[in-house]
Amino acid sequence: MANNKKSPTQVEDTGHVWDGIRELNNPCPRWWLNSLYLSGLIVIAYFVLYPSLPLVNDSTKGLLGWTQIGEYKEDLAKVEARRAPFEDKLSAMSVEEILADQEMLNYSIGSSKVLYGDNCAACHGTGGAPAEGAGYPNLTDDDWLYGGTVHDVALSIAKGRAGNMPAHEKLLKTEEVDQLVQFVIDSSNGVANEAGLALYNAKGCFACHGADAKGIKQMGSANLTDKIWRFSGEEDQIRKTILHGVNDATDPATRVAVMPQWSEKMAIILEARAYAIADGDDPSEIDWADELDGTEAERLTETEIKKLAVYVHQFGGGL
Ligand code: HEC
Ligand code: HEC
Repeated sequence: MANNKKSPTQVEDTGHVWDGIRELNNPCPRWWLNSLYLSGLIVIAYFVLYPSLPLVNDSTKGLLGWTQIGEYKEDLAKVEARRAPFEDKLSAMSVEEILADQEMLNYSIGSSKVLYGDNCAACHGTGGAPAEGAGYPNLTDDDWLYGGTVHDVALSIAKGRAGNMPAHEKLLKTEEVDQLVQFVIDSSNGVANEAGLALYNAKGCFACHGADAKGIKQMGSANLTDKIWRFSGEEDQIRKTILHGVNDATDPATRVAVMPQWSEKMAIILEARAYAIADGDDPSEIDWADELDGTEAERLTETEIKKLAVYVHQFGGGL
C-alpha cells in the first residue's frame, strides 16, 4: 500500500473543496500500478508471439506460428488417430459381423448419430420416427417394407428404394374400389372378407402384396394385414393409394415415395455377395474387377453405410 496511512492533513490536495470536503491527491496504490505495468508487458509478449496486427489480406504471424485452424487440425488428427484402428477393422467386417461384436457395435452406433442426423433425419425423423403424415416409413417399428435383417437395411440404404404400385383408377369400377378398401380394412383387423379376397386376387393385387396380403420384401409392397400403415389407415387414404398408386409416373396424383441411393458401389457389392451365398459360392472369390468399373456413384462410404445399417437396425431390427 502506498502513502495512504498519512493523515489527511499531510496529503497534498487537488485544490477542489466541496462543502468543506477536500479532494486529496493520493498516489495510486503500488500493487495496482505494478499490475498495470505487468499487463502491458503481457500484451507486448502476446503481440510478438501470436498473430496480432491485421494486414490487408492476412495478419502478422507471431513467433510461435500458432493458428486457430492449425490447432483444430492437430485436435482432429488426434481424434482420427484414436479412431483409425476401429475404422480399419470396420472396413474389413460385414454388417453381420459388426452386429455380433459388442465393441464394434458400440463404436458404430456412437459414430452414426451425426451421420444419421446429417443425412437421414430430415426425412425419417431424429430417432427414426418421422412426423405423422410426412410419407416416410417409420424405422423404429418392427415392420419393414424391404426386410429388416441388417443386410436388408444396408441394401435399402446403399441402393435406395422406390416402391411401385400402379394407379388403379382406370382399372377398377367404383364399387370394386369400395370393396377393396373394405378388404384392406378388414384384413388389418383380422376379419375374413371372402368377396374382397376374391376381388383382391382377380385384380392382381396378390402379385405384389402376396397371396396372404402380407407384402413381398423384394418389392417393398406393404403388409396389408397389420395395423402398421405405410401411409395411413384412414379410409380415404387407403382409397387414394388404390386409385393413384405409388410412384406411378402416369398419374399426377400418385404418392411419391423415393429413398435416395447412397452408394451404387456398396449396393453392387452387397447384392453380389448375397447372390454368391445363395448359390453356395464363396463370396471372397468374387472378381470385383468384373462387377465394378470404378464409375459407381458414392454419396456415403462403405464404412459409413455399414455403421448406419447397424444403427438403424438397432431402432427396430428383426426379420
Ligand atoms: C429424401 C428423403 C429420404 C432420405 C434423406 C432418406 N430416406 Fe430412407 N426412405 C425414404 C423413403 C420415401 C423410403 C420408402 C421408400 C418406399 O416407400 O419404397 C425410405 C426407406 C428407407 C428404408 C427401408 C425401410 C423399410 O421399411 O424397409 C431404410 C432402412 C431407410 N430408408 C434408411 C435411411 C437412412 C439410413 C438414411 C440416411 C442415410 C435415409 N433413409 C435417408 C426417404 C428418405
Ligand atoms: C406392382 C405391384 C403392386 C400392385 C399390383 C398393387 N400394389 Fe399396393 N402397393 C405396392 C407397393 C410397392 C406398396 C408400398 C409402396 C411404398 O411404400 O413405396 C403398396 C402399397 C399399398 C397400400 C398402402 C398400405 C399402407 O400401409 O399404407 C395399399 C392399401 C395397397 N397397396 C393396396 C393395393 C391393392 C388393393 C391392390 C390391388 C388393386 C394393390 N395394392 C396392387 C405394390 C403394388
